Amino acid sequence: MAAMAATSAASLAVSTPAGFLSSSSSVLDGGQRGAGAGAGTAVIVQQQRRSRHVALRAVASPRAEFELPPPPYELDALEPHMSKNTLEFHWGKHHRAYVDNLNKQIAGTEEERYSLEEVVLKSYNNGTPTPLFNNAGQIWNHTFFWESMKPAGGGAPKGKLLQLINRDFGSFDEFKTQFKAAGATQFGSGWAWLVIKPSLEEWIAQRQTGSDEPVKDKDGNIAKSLAVVKTPNAVTPVVWGDVPLLTMDVWEHAYYLDYQNRRPAYMDVFLDQLVNWDAVEARLEAALSTVNLTQQTFTS
Ligand SMILES: [Fe+2]
Repeated sequence: MAAMAATSAASLAVSTPAGFLSSSSSVLDGGQRGAGAGAGTAVIVQQQRRSRHVALRAVASPRAEFELPPPPYELDALEPHMSKNTLEFHWGKHHRAYVDNLNKQIAGTEEERYSLEEVVLKSYNNGTPTPLFNNAGQIWNHTFFWESMKPAGGGAPKGKLLQLINRDFGSFDEFKTQFKAAGATQFGSGWAWLVIKPSLEEWIAQRQTGSDEPVKDKDGNIAKSLAVVKTPNAVTPVVWGDVPLLTMDVWEHAYYLDYQNRRPAYMDVFLDQLVNWDAVEARLEAALSTVNLTQQTFTS
């Protein structure tokens, strides 16, 4: 591949739960390999302005097949809120099928040399996804989803995360209302997310000054750093340059065995009993600590 430049691209490493803080590998440096990213491994995202060009670099050596990372808890650990039966199907069959199918699709292709994150970004193809995208995106999303929950989860976040939620949504209750609305209004299959929007650069710069004043972008407008978004099917907001902090799977396969068609009941349980706020807070901390705002040139 020819040398390519990514101007002012901010490379972010967003961690999984506490103790799993990100490695320094990234989409841009060849990074970790495959879905084996799994529990305890960093989820790497590329933070960029939509208008900026991002270079992907294939790694030099052959890659082992993508693997199916296990959830960071036993399959019955989320009961009674999410049953072992659901995990056996959702993780053991659906997530596994995405991995198996992607491995079949990329066999003998250039993508065998890419990390999972690279496959996701490349196959999104600027909004015209290639056939690889659904499987790659679903592997990424599901790994992130398992790590967004924990036994005896739920409740409310604390510290910086709670402060930012209060600032950007008005209150934690309003965040929950918007998050559930995103899940409820995602027609068909998809995901609800809490993300850091691309105002991150201004936000980081502001926080580094120690000021508690509202963050403003270059035009003087208050930057809404945290936001709730929804995505259809396999789409991850990473492809838009957002930094995911939390996700909730609203595909029917996530809740039908336990809640049948009652998606709102599942969403209430997800927020009240399952969310791993420790993981979300760690992802936020990782975003704050690893952002690289310098100009970089990458060569493949
Ligand atoms: Fe799912």
